[in-house]
Amino acid sequence: MRTKIVAGNWKMHKNAEETEDLLNELIDKLPSDKEVRIIVAPTFVNLASAVDHLEFTNIGVAAQNMHQAESGAFTGEISADMLKSIGVDTVILGHSERRAYFHESDALLASKVDTALKHDMTVIFCFGEELKDRQSGNHFNIVENQLNDGIFHVEEKSWENIILAYEPVWAIGTGETASSEQAQEMHEFIRETIRRKFGSNVAEDVSILYGGSVKPDNAKEIFGKPDVDGGLIGGAALKATDFAAIVDGI
Ligand code: PGA
Repeated sequence: MRTKIVAGNWKMHKNAEETEDLLNELIDKLPSDKEVRIIVAPTFVNLASAVDHLEFTNIGVAAQNMHQAESGAFTGEISADMLKSIGVDTVILGHSERRAYFHESDALLASKVDTALKHDMTVIFCFGEELKDRQSGNHFNIVENQLNDGIFHVEEKSWENIILAYEPVWAIGTGETASSEQAQEMHEFIRETIRRKFGSNVAEDVSILYGGSVKPDNAKEIFGKPDVDGGLIGGAALKATDFAAIVDGI
């Protein structure tokens, strides 16, 4: 049985005090009767306090990014070892905002994936097509290439530490959501692509999250699809009631 997961990507939101407030609210409001792995990804500066705050809860903490090198003269960057040393063992890699605004290529992401796996971290690997790709009918090709070039070089056993997040760029932060049918169609394609490369066991066990304007009112329908194993939530993860309602939809 693959794991159901709901992860909140807080992006560049919430200062130290606001982070604590939101975590307290989440501890209060998140349903405790659901078989679901819950993860939150605050900004780097608030990760250590989030880990402390959530120590006795079932809420995990992820970083939103990480550098591929072990250490070195990379001003402003954060290494896997630094994250591990404060108790963060999960990292989001390849988010479309990192790809678009910080020019992270598939090749760069492949090396970040390697570093994270070498440090026994769990990777939430994001990918997804832009609007022009979907309009031209090229979305399956784009997604397959992102998988091939960014993460399909890993060994079969590494898949225990990989979560995939399909996030169509046109649906991120736009209020546009892929229909549950569009999400299912793509997730089925992704699982099939994994099956061809790594076999049925890996394909059946990997959790594939959907991301892109998931809200309390559409979560249940999207999560109800057989190949959608949860969500990576942006805007709606910043409000405890909304995030809790989304988790409730799993
Ligand atoms: P959104 O963001 O839910 O605000 O669309 C999703 C994401 O960027 O992970």
